[in-house]
Amino acid sequence: MNILLLGSGGREHAIAWKLSQSKLLSKLFIAPGNGGTALHGTNKDFSVTDFEAIKTCCIEEHIDLVIVGPEEPLVKGIVDFLVNESGLNLMIIGPSKTAARLEGSKSFAKAFLQKHNIPTASYREFTAENFEDGIEYLKQHALPIVLKADGLAAGKGVIICQHHVEAVAEFELMIQRAKFGDAGKKVVVEEFLEGIELSVFVLTDGEDYLLLPEAKDYKRVGEGDKGLNTGGMGAISPVPFASDAFMQKVVSRIIEPTIKGLKQDQLEYKGFLFIGLMKTGDDPFVIEYNCRMGDPETEVVIPRIKNDLIELFVSTAKGELKHTVLEKDERFASTIVAVSGGYPNDYQKGFVIDGLEAKWKDCMIFHSGTKWEDGKFLTNGGRVVCATALASELDEAINLSRDIVESIEFEEKYFRRDIGYEFISHAGSEESRHH
Ligand code: AMP
Ligand code: GLY
Repeated sequence: MNILLLGSGGREHAIAWKLSQSKLLSKLFIAPGNGGTALHGTNKDFSVTDFEAIKTCCIEEHIDLVIVGPEEPLVKGIVDFLVNESGLNLMIIGPSKTAARLEGSKSFAKAFLQKHNIPTASYREFTAENFEDGIEYLKQHALPIVLKADGLAAGKGVIICQHHVEAVAEFELMIQRAKFGDAGKKVVVEEFLEGIELSVFVLTDGEDYLLLPEAKDYKRVGEGDKGLNTGGMGAISPVPFASDAFMQKVVSRIIEPTIKGLKQDQLEYKGFLFIGLMKTGDDPFVIEYNCRMGDPETEVVIPRIKNDLIELFVSTAKGELKHTVLEKDERFASTIVAVSGGYPNDYQKGFVIDGLEAKWKDCMIFHSGTKWEDGKFLTNGGRVVCATALASELDEAINLSRDIVESIEFEEKYFRRDIGYEFISHAGSEESRHH
């Protein structure tokens, strides 16, 4: 089978790595890919939103299956485009344009959650038309106040305000001064949910679904979850507090009504659905839907899946997931991301990376922002590479991935040493002595 994978992050490297292990794979193309994806297939030099180039590649390379990694092409309608305009009979992993609005519009997602009685924070939405009502609403809202730009805002569209004046000022910036462009012209104002976050993933064919391993992502750049938000600095899976009893609630209150809701609302969906949850007390609430896998969560979820990934995708595309059982590796996976100094603000690119050769069994290095040039891997992004390790104990997995990240060298490398910190005992550990 010939496969085209769209994207260029660690998520796509992890997917490419797993696809390359399938006996069903003939040729793998990744567009645009990175230095790591090129180890498993052929990188193609076009953008994930260049629909014409994608179509041409599907024709020229006799592609059978397209896997869409990131949200942007999904929200822009790549699936509908390929189904309706390519004239090809492709299998595609990704939701339709309308269904991708679950990620592309917070307002659409909130309306869906409310309609299907799925637990989520209470909210109201405002635009320039009811701007004054919005100001009044904010002034009497309990603190903190969560403001969300309706559309895609490169992960920056959520602002948590500790004071009313700040909320009013941000609200004005979004609606009247287009702080997030068109994405912020509609604003969702939401109740703040106290608790611990967790990422849950399903692969669905629109009728049935497989619950994939859950994960926890560490989004802040600094240790102790301080500092700016990033795409993600590390992740672990499974998540110690996601007990069977809790996951049962996630399934019955959130996943099943979501899948039923997709069908009822005729939202065509064959692909990954990522549900960002808050565990408040013992109960799960939806913070957001994403119409794709998470990054770096994929780098711990994919290594814990034992099934042949191409078989899973074919079952998804053909609507046959009902007959499929997920086989999980029960061990813990941890991944730690090495980033360029300065990230998520400005950073330099083009530094030589050393120490990327395979290390030990059950350890993987996934590339995010790298490129291969003149016989060397060079840094080419904010998040550069991540190291995933599998082990029977969480702290063992974390220590292994930290050792690998430590041994990878490039100028201005930075990484968090405390991934998974809430779940491991620090007594006598290296970090507690050094801090
Ligand atoms: P997002 O950009 O949608 O991933 O949201 C960024 C982060 O904002 C989430 O990961 C949560 O930590 C936080 N967040 C979003 N909505 C809420 C909420 N209603 N209550 C508390 N935290 C929230
Ligand atoms: N790591 C969070 C995301 O992929 O959205």
